[in-house]
Amino acid sequence: MSVERLRVDLAGRAYDIVVGAGVLADAGREIAALKRARRVFIVSDDNVAKRHLGTLTQSLDTAGIAHEASVLPPGEASKSFGVLEQLTGQMLDANIERGDLIVALGGGVIGDLAGFAAGILKRGLDYVQVPTTLLAQVDSSVGGKTAIDVPQGKNLVGLFHQPSLVLADTAVLDTLPVREMRAGYAEILKYGLIGDAAFAEWVANNTHAILSTSGAERTKAIVTSCRMKARVVEADEREAGQRALLNLGHTFAHAIEACAGYSGKVLHGEAVAAGCCLAFDLSAQLGLSPVEDAARVRQWFARAGLPASFADLPELGASEDDFIEIMRQDKKASGGKLVFVLARGVGRAFVARDVDESAVRTLLRTALAQGSSPKRS
Ligand code: NAD
Ligand code: GLY
Repeated sequence: MSVERLRVDLAGRAYDIVVGAGVLADAGREIAALKRARRVFIVSDDNVAKRHLGTLTQSLDTAGIAHEASVLPPGEASKSFGVLEQLTGQMLDANIERGDLIVALGGGVIGDLAGFAAGILKRGLDYVQVPTTLLAQVDSSVGGKTAIDVPQGKNLVGLFHQPSLVLADTAVLDTLPVREMRAGYAEILKYGLIGDAAFAEWVANNTHAILSTSGAERTKAIVTSCRMKARVVEADEREAGQRALLNLGHTFAHAIEACAGYSGKVLHGEAVAAGCCLAFDLSAQLGLSPVEDAARVRQWFARAGLPASFADLPELGASEDDFIEIMRQDKKASGGKLVFVLARGVGRAFVARDVDESAVRTLLRTALAQGSSPKRS
């Protein structure tokens, strides 16, 4: 088994990210080496539990670590106050103690929810991320952002709480539906677009290998993405500055997801793909980035089967005004100004805090007209 180990170097809160095929079966040994946990409380969802919970519990048994589990319904709806209340209630009923450890076995939904529960329960317990989607392995399990959704918006109630360990088993992705794999691929390509043009080209040229086999290319894609994220998080843990770069495409993506009603009609990674294309279009329109780069980015996402324009997305029924309104509520927005991550070319992203609304409106008008959404403004 070829395993790579990276370090997220945060003073007092440093942790390892372990990536490789088969690391789930070794979780008990990794957790035992991490801390003398009296007991582990696993949080998972139905889809993941029926495929992978047994491997985890067997490995904990072998390491002599007691465990219990809460298996929740899959889907974004589990990132709610209701499910958080139910989950923390189960943990308290199980007499969870500060020395116990929470393990999040699942995608970003389970990771965000279990991480938040760990952060607030008894004023903070340690937790381990065992991400089982490609998106969670390259993004959500690293960096300590935890949250639930509320009627006012996604991820608006949460905290920064770093995990003590991330175990990314590249082989568990073999059971993940291809649409979810593609959504994670969008986040991998995003890292190249932000800061590493050569990596972006490599990802674009190795799409099939990354998506279809748990081999060396998939591991390299995950390790490189985690390394880039780790360096950004080390420099700016609480997103005072450069961590916002990780949100390339996300101002548009969050608006697309909101218009789709967080329904599964558009997955987060699909919205990020379309959002990155729009961010490069806006950069080209503002004369910041070559038009050819916007065309290359669109082609890369489209070739991977991801949406690269509104025409590739389902009917959203949203207007230019709807998008602008939602973008104003973006967490990055400041002083009423729209904030975007733009680029000076592939691999050269930067945060633009003073983007002229009329330029965004022009872009949206054109993009929506080319797509299938009705134009109400
Ligand atoms: P998800 O957790 O909903 O998982 C997607 C689907 O795949 C679910 O149905 C799940 O049950 C299933 N699944 C997971 N692993 C599987 C496996 N190995 N085999 C078969 N099925 C499997 O979605 P996601 O895309 O992983 O995460 C999305 C969430 O992540 C969103 O809530 C988003 O806000 C959050 N997120 C957080 C961060 C962060 O920094 N904390 C970053 C990006 C996204
Ligand atoms: N997913 C963006 C971040 O962790 O900052």
